[in-house]
Order: sequence, then C-alpha cells, then structure tokens
Amino acid sequence: METADNTTTETVIEESTIYTREEFRTIDVGAIMRDGHPDISDGDRLIVDRVAARRAELGRPLTVMDVGSGSGVLAAMIADRLPDCRVIANDVARNPLEQARDRLADRPHAEVFGSPFEQWQEPLDVMISWGSHHHLPHNHLAHARELLGGDGLLILGDEFCPEYCTPEDAARLKSAEVIELGGGYLLASDEEIAAYRKDGSIPEWSRALEDRRRKTLWNWYKFVIDYAIERDNWMVAIAEMQITKDDVVTAFEEEHKLSPLIVEHELAVNGFRQRAKHVIGDREPALQSFFVYEFLVDSEAARPTPGQGRS
Ligand SMILES: C[S@@+](CC[C@H](N)C(=O)[O-])C[C@H]1O[C@@H](n2cnc3c(N)ncnc32)[C@H](O)[C@@H]1O
Repeated sequence: METADNTTTETVIEESTIYTREEFRTIDVGAIMRDGHPDISDGDRLIVDRVAARRAELGRPLTVMDVGSGSGVLAAMIADRLPDCRVIANDVARNPLEQARDRLADRPHAEVFGSPFEQWQEPLDVMISWGSHHHLPHNHLAHARELLGGDGLLILGDEFCPEYCTPEDAARLKSAEVIELGGGYLLASDEEIAAYRKDGSIPEWSRALEDRRRKTLWNWYKFVIDYAIERDNWMVAIAEMQITKDDVVTAFEEEHKLSPLIVEHELAVNGFRQRAKHVIGDREPALQSFFVYEFLVDSEAARPTPGQGRS
C-alpha cells in the first residue's frame, strides 16, 4: 500500500481468528500446535520431503512460497533442508508475521512477505498452503494458477472436515462446473449462485450438507481437544475451543473447513490436476482430517472464471 510520503507499507489484515486475537498475542500458535495437536508435525515432515523431491525432479534451485505460513515453522524447516532454494513465508496477521521474521532472520535464503498472497506477483515453482486453504479468499486459486504456470507445483495440506459427503453428494459435485460458498453454504451451479445472490436463497441440499459438516466437525474437534488435554497442553485446547466455535458458525467463512472431496472438486474446477494425495494419521474415517495433496496446473482445463470458490 502506498502512503502519502510514497513509502510502502504492508497490508496487515485484522481478522478475528485466533491468529490476531489479543489473548494469543504472546503465543507462537504454530509452535504450540506442533506439540498439542495431532498430525501437524507428521505433515511438516511429509511436505518438506515432497518439496525436496520436486527440487530433485527439476534439478535446479526452486522458489518456494508458504502461503499462510503462520509463524514460519515449516518455512524454516524447508530453508534448512534446501539451502539453495528461495523460501518465502507469507502471512497477513501481525502476531505470526513478527514471529516468522524472528524465526527466519538468520536464514539468508528465507524471507517474509507480509501482504495478502493475492498481491504477490513473481512466478513460483512450489506454492505450499499448509492449514491455510480454508482461510484464503475465493480468488486465490486463480492467482496461484497464474503464478505457478506450466511447471509449478501446488502442495495443499490441510485440516479438513472429515469426509461428510454421501455418494449422492459426490455424484452431484462431480457434475458441478462451479463450487462456491454463499453465506457458508455450498453452491454448486450457476443457478444456485444466481438465486443466492438475488435473494439469499439456499438449496435444501446445501442446508443438509452444512448440517452434516457441523456434526462431523464437532466429533473431530472433541478428539482434538481431548488430545491436547491428555498432553496437558491447555493453550492448544483453549485455542481449539475458539476455533471450534468459529468453524461451526456457518456464516464465519474465515474458518470454514470443508470435506476433502469438496476441496478436490474445487481444485478441479479451478484448473488443477491432482498428482498425489497423502493421508496423515491412521484412524477411522470420522477422525481422518489431515490430507496433503500435490496439484499441477491442468493446461488442458478451460480457463477458470475468476471468482470460482468462496463468495
Ligand atoms: C491455520 S494458519 C496456518 C498455519 C501455518 N501454515 C503453520 O504451518 O503453522 C492460517 C494462516 O493463513 C493466514 N492468511 C489468511 N489470509 C491470508 C492471505 N490472504 N494471504 C496470506 N495469508 C493469509 C492467517 O493469517 C493465518 O496465519
């Protein structure tokens, strides 16, 4: 953002997720989550391995951006493993940004970009979004596609809502040409989107899906909070109680976990081809939340219309 004296300042977005709330001001949420939350550390190791494999595959140093990097734990791990690569940690929230700057200060090939990802304009070889996809704005996939180009790899790892789609939902999603959220409800056709924009109407199917999403999430968060308390990690337990509330409020789209199947279709309609899917944690499906995907830009896909995603 340009100021009156022509200096450039960063756009720091103040949201009401835990990453900006005052009570977490002095807490490195990224660090405590690696201690008290299931699956995150395993995901870190997997992602670092996948970036290293891409480095070996292309046989040259890479430009790697971790979008929604939080306090930079994963970016630091990648910078240490691949010292010839340029590693950019990107976030917008004040607390994690300060923590990422401190963490990466003595790593010469690592840097911090403190404005929304949508404002980054240089090409990327690897874009990582680790726990961030469900926080990012609707247009970020179209932008990612532009930055990644032909050879770029998108590593999308997230804490999803464990799968809640029925085979009927899957069939409906498969034929969807658009996937969009309206007021937190899933809309899967141009007609549904137009009706929602006209008078806020929500299809019955979307309401039923949302009802299942909230119940599935509740079951998952109970497991996560118990996991933290068993490890005496009350900060994580308290953070997760707040995140639970954010997530089950349908209209609060900054924290809105969707099922893996829905996100797979969201990526497909935005012109990405799935190359690999990794599951983290070995539990029953109702407690299977963490997945890491590798996507390439699908050069044969029709150019997606900007705005596909969340509205
Ligand atoms: C769940 S946290 C991610 C955790 C982090 N990747 C880690 O490994 O610890 C999601 C992050 O996305 C950030 N975020 C939200 N919107 C963003 C945007 N437009 N551009 C970049 N980061 C964004 C939030 O500030 C938050 O820190």
